[in-house]
Amino acid sequence: MAGKPVLLITRRLTDAVQARAARDYQVILNEADHVFSREELLARCQDVDAVLPCHSEHFSADVIADLGDRLRIIANHSVGVDHVDLEAAKKAGIVVTNTPDVLSDATAEIAMLCMLGAARRGAEGDAMVRAGKWDFWSPAFMVGRQVTGKRFGVLGMGRVGQAAAERARGFGMEVHYHNRTRLPDPLEKGAVFHDTVEGLLAVSDVLSLHCPATPETTGIINEKTIAMLPDRAILINTARGNLLDEAALVKALQSGKLFAAGLDVFRNEPGGNPDLAALRNVFLLPHIGSATEETRDAMGFRALDNLDAFFSGGQPRDRVA
Ligand code: DGY
Repeated sequence: MAGKPVLLITRRLTDAVQARAARDYQVILNEADHVFSREELLARCQDVDAVLPCHSEHFSADVIADLGDRLRIIANHSVGVDHVDLEAAKKAGIVVTNTPDVLSDATAEIAMLCMLGAARRGAEGDAMVRAGKWDFWSPAFMVGRQVTGKRFGVLGMGRVGQAAAERARGFGMEVHYHNRTRLPDPLEKGAVFHDTVEGLLAVSDVLSLHCPATPETTGIINEKTIAMLPDRAILINTARGNLLDEAALVKALQSGKLFAAGLDVFRNEPGGNPDLAALRNVFLLPHIGSATEETRDAMGFRALDNLDAFFSGGQPRDRVA
């Protein structure tokens, strides 16, 4: 290829990442950081060799079909790739990469924030003090559930699930998990493996979702599966909104079947779900699992490493299609 490859970066990344990208590529930036419409995305992808998108850009099969011939690689700035139709990309001869590992710690931290925020009524307490409505105290006031000694259930024991489990152990919790394959001893670290989702649900005082969003996992937490959890369980989701049937979750939170939920992801993003937001016993965050200074740099650099490998004729380390 004569000259530097042309790279479209769809969203504002950190200064360090954008500077490195500009050094090595002919970069097209989106300084306004607005979300491209389908038409804008397609128009901007026509004359580029590579695109570095986030989960906010959807490369569905019909978008991929209209991408034109020039684009050769989609180097995602995300570990999740549910916004890209991998089969369609493969058919179109477009390489797809993601950014695993580098966001596991940051996301596990947010899972702990969600767990404690839900268990100890963090949103309610913060809102009360902030609004100047804290005018009472008693031993019976704002009593939550303690996580020490409880069972922490991990659905999807990949890198983020393992990092969350590590932290839960630090809170004195007993770790249980379900995964497609059982982990080897050194990774399992004494966690109890359940070979069925149902088996895991039955023992999860806190259930934390860490599986990828796929057709098989869409709606995996629904009225039927919520009923399998211990009464007054706590549900944490820092993975993807479509793992959950949100209407069923609202019902379970209203009935008291679930004590609380801590959610960083929603079916509708950005925005969330007003029915969940209306409930007292939910702790809500706006999809910020990986949003730390350190991790944003690391994700951007990892996406650039994948691009560098591709354009130097090698195999990108994080190729998923
Ligand atoms: C991811 O990496 O998948 C996070 O959700 C941020 O996009």
